Amino acid sequence: LDGLPLRYATPPEWARVAVSDLDGLLSDHAHCEQKAASMAIALIGRFPEAPNLAREMIALAQEEMRHFRQVLDLIESRGGSLGRPLPDPYVRALREWGFRHRGGFGALGDLLLVSAFVEARSCERFRLLAAELRGEDLGVFYSRLAEAEARHWETFRDLCSGSGKRAIGERIAEMAEAEAEIVRARPLEARMH
Ligand SMILES: [Fe+2]
Ligand SMILES: [Fe+2]
Repeated sequence: LDGLPLRYATPPEWARVAVSDLDGLLSDHAHCEQKAASMAIALIGRFPEAPNLAREMIALAQEEMRHFRQVLDLIESRGGSLGRPLPDPYVRALREWGFRHRGGFGALGDLLLVSAFVEARSCERFRLLAAELRGEDLGVFYSRLAEAEARHWETFRDLCSGSGKRAIGERIAEMAEAEAEIVRARPLEARMH
């Protein structure tokens, strides 16, 4: 959990479960990348006046789309094809928690912090996959993606810090507790969250 705001470590069995169904995992992962890009673009349209937001989200959307293409390349190189996107109960629960417990950072601030945690959790999961796949090309790929997600968590956190009056540390601590409960309640499956 080094450098991440997370309070709950994913059980190590998750990586074994995930790697046992790589095709399923990669398809779910590919959709996470395109959803991250879509979310970044949606924020630009919804909050055009927020300082720095448009440029940061343009950069992020481009990077997430590159990840999406890379994962799609992997899927196709394995002879597979992109499956349908599955509902994401983790992201939904985190967003609902944010709406029910407003943080005093406004609608934008709440959404930025939800994205910050999704990035942080993805980073943790990519690190676990990198360790599980050590010595394989896919392990190298996941360790590179883990670094990107660690950067993205900081991008969202920093954007949120500029958006509210309240100390952001307190809000991050609250959301970390909620996020930990949400992750703990999820079954271990070959999905990113
Ligand atoms: Fe990504
Ligand atoms: Fe990301």
